Amino acid sequence: MNIGPLRGLGRMFERVADAYDVGRPHYPDEMYRALTEVTGVDLDGATTVDVGAGTGILTRALRARGSHVIAVDPGAEMLARLVARSEGGTPSVAAVLADGNALPLADGVADLVTYAQSWHWLDPVASIAEARRVLRPEGAIVGCWNFNHAAQADWLAAYEARLAEAVPTYYGPAVEQWSAPPIASAFEVIEERWIPWTRLVGIEDFLLDLRSHSYMAALPPEVADELVERQRVALREEFPEGVLSVPMRVYLAVGR
Ligand SMILES: C[S@@+](CC[C@H](N)C(=O)[O-])C[C@H]1O[C@@H](n2cnc3c(N)ncnc32)[C@H](O)[C@@H]1O
Repeated sequence: MNIGPLRGLGRMFERVADAYDVGRPHYPDEMYRALTEVTGVDLDGATTVDVGAGTGILTRALRARGSHVIAVDPGAEMLARLVARSEGGTPSVAAVLADGNALPLADGVADLVTYAQSWHWLDPVASIAEARRVLRPEGAIVGCWNFNHAAQADWLAAYEARLAEAVPTYYGPAVEQWSAPPIASAFEVIEERWIPWTRLVGIEDFLLDLRSHSYMAALPPEVADELVERQRVALREEFPEGVLSVPMRVYLAVGR
């Protein structure tokens, strides 16, 4: 397949696909319950277009709940991991190497279009126009993002503060004017929810999660290494048993 025109899109993640695959958190059960409740779409048997599917964190969870998923991403490395973990089985997963701003799909084929941690990488207008085009009339658009809930734990606030200090392009809870991506201003909102949950994770996987952020991938390798080491030392000092209980929250926005 010729992927020439797609090469620039999501390129940052191509360099950190392995760290992403291992380190990034899943989404809590409560989010899927809320998604069903708010959209009125039963995931079991639904057709979902998962845009910016990456390594398939949301894709796999939707499939496990019975959804047929068309996973779209322009990142060949990210999508390769999704494919490796999704082959065979029912319901199906179709992986499509494509730009979410110009979906290579027919009109009216989907019950849901999802953007998990991805809409902010797309064109805010073209992406939603495409979502509307591929949705059936009663379908819904879903944006969701997982965030560290730094205000809930001093150690996490300190962790985010170290990031803010060391990474010029950091944008997260340690930035005063930080907010979730403005997807709710891009469509007709049905509902927005913040869903708290707790992530249990080993320190090394948590540091892989850190490595998988685009702002880390953009740093010179030695600067990134030094920062990761500093975080490792601080976390081990605080949690010698090596396991973190991370307060998180998912921002879920559903619209048409
Ligand atoms: C932060 S990852 C999210 C992956 C996954 N959905 C998850 O929940 O972990 C963002 C993804 O958006 C993809 N992306 C970037 N630009 C895109 C575009 N124009 N169309 C579709 N996906 C895009 C990237 O390749 C990357 O895999």
